[in-house]
Amino acid sequence: METVVSGIRSTGNLHLGNYYGAIQNFVKMQYEYNCYFFIADLHSLTTHPTPADLHGNIKQVLVEYLAAGIDPEKATIYIQSDVPEIFELYLYLNMNAYLGELERSTSFKDKVRANPENVNAGLLTYPVLMAADIIIHKATKVPVGKDQEQHLEMARTFGNRFNRLYNTEFFPEPYAFNFSENLVKIPGLDGKGKMGKSEGEGNAVYLSDSPEIIRKKVMRAVTDSGPTVENSEKPVEIQNLFDIIKVVSSADTYAHFDNLYNTCQIRYGDLKKQLAEDIIIATAPIRERINDIANDAPYLRQVARHGAIKARESASKTIREVREIIGFRSF
Ligand code: TRP
Repeated sequence: METVVSGIRSTGNLHLGNYYGAIQNFVKMQYEYNCYFFIADLHSLTTHPTPADLHGNIKQVLVEYLAAGIDPEKATIYIQSDVPEIFELYLYLNMNAYLGELERSTSFKDKVRANPENVNAGLLTYPVLMAADIIIHKATKVPVGKDQEQHLEMARTFGNRFNRLYNTEFFPEPYAFNFSENLVKIPGLDGKGKMGKSEGEGNAVYLSDSPEIIRKKVMRAVTDSGPTVENSEKPVEIQNLFDIIKVVSSADTYAHFDNLYNTCQIRYGDLKKQLAEDIIIATAPIRERINDIANDAPYLRQVARHGAIKARESASKTIREVREIIGFRSF
């Protein structure tokens, strides 16, 4: 069975876009592949070296992934910092990662631009740590978005370089992977691009939002004054709302509002009310589980321990062999 690895940044609070765009995929994949899903808490230190509540953020992500359907009996779900073998592989890979190639990484350049006062070595070697995350389990498939394509190419480069330097075929090549052909993209509520954390208050609906907050956010979504010509094309902010309806509401609801739009009878207040209620219904089971799991400390402890044990089993096997290949042998 092929191995899948994906890292989830430990910034907490998943939104609808994360859920429909990525997590539903993870949930399907866990039944088909040998999956390792981890919370990338080490990576978060590259930009936030002293986070105010690292533990709370990690817990939030863990809780929400479990609530959204990741099954710790099927997939291995763990916290990156619980697996020190990753640190060790990161160090070995760093010895053969070159300044020039690391400086050319677009994510590095973006982060330098955004935060010129904190250009640290960890930020520069972020792609090396990510490569270590992936190849420590000899994964071949990595479910990530387009923005991670360059990091994956670097992971292949570092793995192949190791193979070449030590004259081995130890590490396989990892590639970006989507379980579904058409990934669902959920737009934000601000009338612009996709739903995202950094797009400003009110743009994203979080899985942990209460029904009242969901109603408030949806009612404030950007709309226009309505169509005046029958069957006209929807402007982007209206299309966005219809895109969300397509995912969370029934086909009848979609057809109903589409028809009202096309006949210039639409009232956006009604559409938003319906949309808010449908989001509330679609997310209700997850919201309940978030609350239950967050209050179940023994369960969380058990999941984290079990995940760390399983991840370390795989990682320590790799490290044992890597040490052997490099030439660190016991006397
Ligand atoms: N860089 C990824 C992101 O920003 C997170 C990540 C870290 C990751 N390590 C990984 C993703 C390993 C896949 C595999 O989303």
